[in-house]
Amino acid sequence: MEHAQRHLPDGYVIRAMRDGDHAEISAICADVYPTERPYTEGELRAHHALFPEGQFVVEHVPSAAVAGAHFTLLVNMMHFHVDDSWDALTAGGTFSDHDPKGHTLYGADLFVHPGHQHHGLGRALTEATRGLVQAKRLWRMVGGSRMPGYGRVSTAIAPDDYIGRVKRAEVTDPVLTAHLHDGWDAITAIRGYLPHDEESAGWAAVIQWVNPECPPPAEFDLSRVPRKA
Ligand SMILES: CC(C)(COP(=O)(O)OP(=O)(O)OC[C@H]1O[C@@H](n2cnc3c(N)ncnc32)[C@H](O)[C@@H]1OP(=O)(O)O)[C@@H](O)C(=O)NCCC(=O)NCCS
Repeated sequence: MEHAQRHLPDGYVIRAMRDGDHAEISAICADVYPTERPYTEGELRAHHALFPEGQFVVEHVPSAAVAGAHFTLLVNMMHFHVDDSWDALTAGGTFSDHDPKGHTLYGADLFVHPGHQHHGLGRALTEATRGLVQAKRLWRMVGGSRMPGYGRVSTAIAPDDYIGRVKRAEVTDPVLTAHLHDGWDAITAIRGYLPHDEESAGWAAVIQWVNPECPPPAEFDLSRVPRKA
């Protein structure tokens, strides 16, 4: 986590999630995901019990407040479809599908309190998970990126075209651009990842970062994970 800490401005510290953080985390989620049900205290406790080293928090030290978080679990991607929903990949947000033998770190959630955005916290939280992938010699990180700029143009542009434009920096997306700047690659558009995400018109981008020191064998490449349809 020291490497991740170097990406943070003064006054912030990155650390593992604690029990006392739960109420603040739920409040931030209610703010940044107004159409989703925030995590319950029971769910956050369960995530910690299943995989404590995968639950990261950034604290704003002067106010002792949670400023952002990144929640992950280990999965075997071959047990899923590449276009599965967030609910399918996280077992309804319980993380009970966490597989300690999985080779993929699944980024279930990354969010920063609006009052602390654009200070490098998202970058630091991503670096922390990248460090975990390297330390555990995992193959990769995979996630689903919202694309909240897409809803406004969804009648004019196909979702994969939109992803291409964001990748070529012809268009800036408030979330997908941040992930691309943080070293992820966008692989494909998927529908229904977060069905209530109207800003993204229900679409998302599958994103991936492959560990160059320990990439997956060819037969486990993300392109080999089937689609539902
Ligand atoms: C996406 C999110 C986590 C980014 O957090 P953040 O702390 O503001 O991001 P950072 O300050 O670390 O920025 C990281 C990079 O993304 C870029 N970036 C961040 N927000 C951006 C935006 N709105 N538009 C374009 N680029 C952006 C930054 O410029 C930076 O790149 P750079 O270092 O090359 O300049 C944050 O906006 C958020 O919590 N959004 C709401 C919740 C959400 O939708 N989470 C994603 C779920 S998939």
